[in-house]
Amino acid sequence: MLRTLRSVMRFRRFERDPVLRRLARAASVEDLRRIARRRLPGGVFDYIDGGAEDERTLRRNAAAFEALEFRPRVLRDVAKVDTTTTLLGRPLDFPLVLAPTGFSRIVDPEGELAVARAAERAGLPYTLSTLSTRSIEEVAAVSRGRKWFQVYAWRDRELVKEMLERAETWGYEAILVTVDTAVLGRRERDIRRGFTLPPKIGLETLLSGALHPGWTWDFVRGEPIAFANVVGKSVGDGGDAVKLSDYINSQFDPGLSWRDIEWFREHWKGPIILKGVQTVADAELAAEAGVEAIALSNHGGRQLDGAPPVLELVAPVADAVGDRVEIICDGGIRRGSDLVKAVALGARACMAGRAYLYGLAAGGERGVDHVLEHLREGFERTLVLTGSRSVDDLSADLVRWRPAGD
Ligand code: LAC
Repeated sequence: MLRTLRSVMRFRRFERDPVLRRLARAASVEDLRRIARRRLPGGVFDYIDGGAEDERTLRRNAAAFEALEFRPRVLRDVAKVDTTTTLLGRPLDFPLVLAPTGFSRIVDPEGELAVARAAERAGLPYTLSTLSTRSIEEVAAVSRGRKWFQVYAWRDRELVKEMLERAETWGYEAILVTVDTAVLGRRERDIRRGFTLPPKIGLETLLSGALHPGWTWDFVRGEPIAFANVVGKSVGDGGDAVKLSDYINSQFDPGLSWRDIEWFREHWKGPIILKGVQTVADAELAAEAGVEAIALSNHGGRQLDGAPPVLELVAPVADAVGDRVEIICDGGIRRGSDLVKAVALGARACMAGRAYLYGLAAGGERGVDHVLEHLREGFERTLVLTGSRSVDDLSADLVRWRPAGD
């Protein structure tokens, strides 16, 4: 009996490193999200995970990927597949860009540095947020990979000019101008929790700290979190905790218009990507304005609730302007197969934000590596299973919207 038992029992080798142990059990981004929820204080998790108002757009972004299914081809000799593509005329290991996400150090003490290093290892561009907790210079010092800089239009235009100069000096390749944040969307999870940035250690967080000891220990031990790109400026740099809506609504310029795109062109020599385009009409205007790329985005459902799911915009926008501007899309990317779907409909690449933040929360820098490898490997496997040998084989024929009620 002992012999039989021995032959049927298999123990996994015990992994001593707790981070690797945790990551080994995370088979999907959803698994990482569950770990993130356990490890982060509720306010921090909800700030990342949540969306605006009833979170309809947040849910519909994901639902659109579910509603699109494949029409896989067989017997296509997929012994070798090539995941590479190009974006802004430069090579990319697979069609993904790391989206800008604000305040990454609230998730992990290394914050943006960890994410930028992981992106470089994966051969992907990393977009640093204006509202980052590591500066333009700090990120450039740790990453020689492709770096983009996301810009908000501050009322103080001199400040924007200065940031653009710093980004140029430090070798950032492109800017991403976010155009969907004239005011901050109403994020009701944050309102309920009275969430501030940086997070405050109040009675609630102390209690929550007992439940999230790893995060709390890092947070109280680490250097204070600051809005690193504006430290020492009059706009407030996180020295005093703020409600994000108060900060953004007082600092960002709601008067931003198409004329300002010319202003950006005057002050930035490299490629410009407009992030937050949500209609064919605006995609046409963006193409006329001469930007190199647009990012179809509803800010991950964090701004206008009721905005259309991004995946539904891809084909009509590609039909209208695909020959003039490159199309990136974001919102709900959780699997490599999602990238295949978006590219099949006409996107050049996708951006993902939450996905890597869940990884960062679950396992620090190695957690980000884990997510990027999960998406790369999923992209490759989906190419194989759909009978596609390369990105060039992806076209709208490969997918269809499931008939309603199906
Ligand atoms: C947000 C801002 C910072 O979505 O982009 O929270």
